[in-house]
Amino acid sequence: MNDMIRQQAWQPKDYAENARFVSDLAGAVLEWLAPKPGEHILDLGCGDGALTLKLSEIGAHVVGVDASANFVETAKGQGVDARLMNGEALEFAQEFDAVFSNAALHWMTNPSAVVDGVSRALKPGGRFVAEFGGFGNVAAIATALRAVAQMRGGDETLVAPWFFPSPEEYSALLGAHGFVVDRIGLYPRPTPLKTGMGPWLKTFRTPFFEQYGGEADAVLNDVVELLKPALCDAQGNWMADYVRLRVEAHLG
Ligand code: BEZ
Repeated sequence: MNDMIRQQAWQPKDYAENARFVSDLAGAVLEWLAPKPGEHILDLGCGDGALTLKLSEIGAHVVGVDASANFVETAKGQGVDARLMNGEALEFAQEFDAVFSNAALHWMTNPSAVVDGVSRALKPGGRFVAEFGGFGNVAAIATALRAVAQMRGGDETLVAPWFFPSPEEYSALLGAHGFVVDRIGLYPRPTPLKTGMGPWLKTFRTPFFEQYGGEADAVLNDVVELLKPALCDAQGNWMADYVRLRVEAHLG
């Protein structure tokens, strides 16, 4: 399988339908950021720009970056200053009072390069406030995907290509790049999936299912059935077993 197929490709319309909760549930990390009018803020992994726009409305000067051209176009369409940029190769130098990130850092599997770029993007003393998947995030979902890959034969490296660190691991990484950690924690957050588990899996794990070609729907059904006893209640309401890592740190 070539690298283009392994990559998660984002479809903004599908994301808006099945993942709007990602920006809707960002209240706690926005509180930790406490943006002020006039501040220069980088939104790292801005996606479709929903939160970037919210920060602008507060009166901050916000730049959003994302590695998905589809997302960048959508964000620009909303009036966001969005730029196509790899979060593992940020191109800013001492420009921002704060770097903010919601539900994006777990997709960046070279976290040292990310934190290095964040430290370079910040003005001296600037802060880094982020929330993303932490240790144990979507553990049941990943286990079901792995079980089905083992039963059916499949590329297990496509199961869970994510970075879900513990607070200890992430604190050490930040410390190694000159940050002082002000607060950090893991927050279990079972998350209702209004459109169900199937659409969540299709939205977030597209390359895993694509490897099965014409069998993709049957494989999806296997994963959903395995997860039902753990994540679906008697009324048919689905939950995703999210665990958030939330952090605030500043350059020392
Ligand atoms: C998350 O937001 O934690 C997440 C979403 C999709 C896949 C993996 C993690």
